Amino acid sequence: MFYRKLFVLLGLLASMYTYTFAQSIQFDQQSRVFRIDSVGVTYAFGVNEENELQTLYWGGRLGSNDHLGPAQANQGHASFDLPSGSTRQEFEGWGAGLFYEPTLKITFPDGNRDLVLHYIDHHIEGNTLNVHLKDISRDVLVDLKYQIDPETGILGRSAVITNKTKEPLLIEQAAAATWSLPQSTDYWLYYLTGRWAGEMNVQHEAIRPGTRLIESRRGSTGHQNNPWFAIERGNSGDQDTGDVWFGALGWSGSWRITVEQDSLRQIRITGGYNPFDFGYQLAPNEQLETPVFYGGYSHNGIGGASRLLHRFEISKVLPQAPKPRPRPVLYNSWEATEFNVTEQGQEELAEKAAKIGVERFVMDDGWFGQRKDDHAGLGDWYVNKEKFPVGLKPLIDKVHSLGMDFGLWVEPEMVNPDSDLYRKHPDWVLNFDGRPRTEGRNQLVLNLARQDVRDYVYGFLDKLLSENDIAFLKWDYNRNWSEPGWPAVAPDEQKKVYVKFIENLYSILKKLREKHPKVEIESCSGGGGRVDLGILRYTDEVWPSDNTDPFDRLSIQDGFTYAYTPGVMMAWVTESPGGANHSPRSIEYRFLSSMQGSLGIGSNLNHWSDADFASARHLVSEYKEIRETVQHGALYRLISPANGSEQSATESVAADGSQAVVFGFLHSSQFGYPYPRLLLRGLNKDAQYKLHWITEKPGGKRPETASGAYWMGHGVDLDLDGDFQATAFRLDKER
Ligand code: GLA
Repeated sequence: MFYRKLFVLLGLLASMYTYTFAQSIQFDQQSRVFRIDSVGVTYAFGVNEENELQTLYWGGRLGSNDHLGPAQANQGHASFDLPSGSTRQEFEGWGAGLFYEPTLKITFPDGNRDLVLHYIDHHIEGNTLNVHLKDISRDVLVDLKYQIDPETGILGRSAVITNKTKEPLLIEQAAAATWSLPQSTDYWLYYLTGRWAGEMNVQHEAIRPGTRLIESRRGSTGHQNNPWFAIERGNSGDQDTGDVWFGALGWSGSWRITVEQDSLRQIRITGGYNPFDFGYQLAPNEQLETPVFYGGYSHNGIGGASRLLHRFEISKVLPQAPKPRPRPVLYNSWEATEFNVTEQGQEELAEKAAKIGVERFVMDDGWFGQRKDDHAGLGDWYVNKEKFPVGLKPLIDKVHSLGMDFGLWVEPEMVNPDSDLYRKHPDWVLNFDGRPRTEGRNQLVLNLARQDVRDYVYGFLDKLLSENDIAFLKWDYNRNWSEPGWPAVAPDEQKKVYVKFIENLYSILKKLREKHPKVEIESCSGGGGRVDLGILRYTDEVWPSDNTDPFDRLSIQDGFTYAYTPGVMMAWVTESPGGANHSPRSIEYRFLSSMQGSLGIGSNLNHWSDADFASARHLVSEYKEIRETVQHGALYRLISPANGSEQSATESVAADGSQAVVFGFLHSSQFGYPYPRLLLRGLNKDAQYKLHWITEKPGGKRPETASGAYWMGHGVDLDLDGDFQATAFRLDKER
């Protein structure tokens, strides 16, 4: 008994030792080098002889006795490339001789635009490091924040800029951080592009001398680019091998990431507020805190980079981190009824949804104000009495009686000119005095930077959630900015709208969550227009695309998972043929496409046959057996759907290794070519796994139980044949 206790104690001490050893932040007084170590990653920078903060290393974990530094400034190349601009700095003011992307650019009231930041001191506490910089002559202070995640080695970097001078100054450009990669000319960039109903296309290209801008000038994250990048050294062509550096910005406003190969072939990645049309007037003693730019490194290829980000999002970013509850199976009425919601119609859909195992019923657009179509009503957040004569309670009670919780669609930051709100407060929208107000989907953007607008939006949402038993909000945002003026404040304060709007959005979400802790929120912006690590701090899931075609979704979802965990990726099964897919797809195919993320159903259930209901019931119950693995497990992209591939396949392995789930899709096939054998990944080669088919067992012979070594080495034949075919199975580890 005594020995058992002793062993337990020793084990505990050992694990504490490994934990503290696994990550640390150290400053070496002699060499003036900061070294941040975490699982698999070391990040280091030093104070050089000029007192500049110089990046020294970012990559795989180094030995604890390996010395880095001292930092030595680059002496420049010629009279055309001066020393300070040629030195790889952690956070560089635009001043002295910098010709590349600055991290901070300031104009002082006397016309001086030279900013040279030097090290003052620092503070280390647990997983955080703060380094204080100051301009060489002016009282502009910059507090650089570093926060290391011990579990993934992902480093969060941001800066607080403080004006300690006696006069206001103008910040013209402020990024969160600059990352520098080890010298090489063989780097390959991944980034995401898209449009409405066609989000998250993976781009892959060699980095050449010059600059690649990934950005949004739209006031919000946008569909066009997503604030994420990954860079591989070489072009391994394999998902799970190779050195990959990656990063993502936690910001839902206009943003920019600059990937630059400078004339000395150094690679710098700078990200933060988009400097386009930017201008932040900073009064004496005022501060501006940038968004966080997260960065990480993986030795296991682009797939490994995604898995680290997924883990980080689940355990550190999401509002329910570190253990978000699995997403419930959801029904949403939008594609069934569009704006024609009625109490009876919704109740009928709810009854049908409950029969197939749905856990959350969501009423979409159309329930409020004079909302008959998209021409009117936004801004008037009272329940429409013609559609719901005594309010939402009867419908909510009905939904509860069917064993589901209730969710509701809102679009809080928008207003239709045809609304009581706009008639009363035409000055509440983004606009320039006396200039046109361009409408998008017949709506204008409320200026959330204004305190009165912020209070109004918080007020009606708080009232809605206090008066109704609502478990979930689908928070939509259906256009981008135009004429982004704020005439109510002085001209030199107006551009603060780019920052204040988003800060107020976050503050509303934060306050609502604190007051209504059981309410979950989905971020939607006409599909995937607002997906980023900023909004994901306050929202539990996102709507990746208004395109719900199950085939198109395979590529959108594939791209999505490069940066974001499938656990937040809402995916509905919709009508077939439907809005985006004009030829029929089987119900199994549609379900399996959606089951790769967080499963929802958006079909018009009034059109379903008994056979559809039976299939749906079966697949929903199968989904509940695998959702923990799909939503929170480790994702392996086995076959990519990109570039016209005939097939695609994914595998998810449960965090505790107890299960693996495989989805295989055949888009179209030419006669006689078999489906590639799938070699699984991430299993324990010595453990035994039992095969269970989620869809009908295919022909051909396979063992019912085999080792991890077998499933990974020998692999599995799916025997898919034809066009738009799909199958799925799971492997359960035997104890
Ligand atoms: C956006 C959303 C849709 C739906 C409509 C409602 O387009 O992305 O899912 O909610 O608005 O108007």
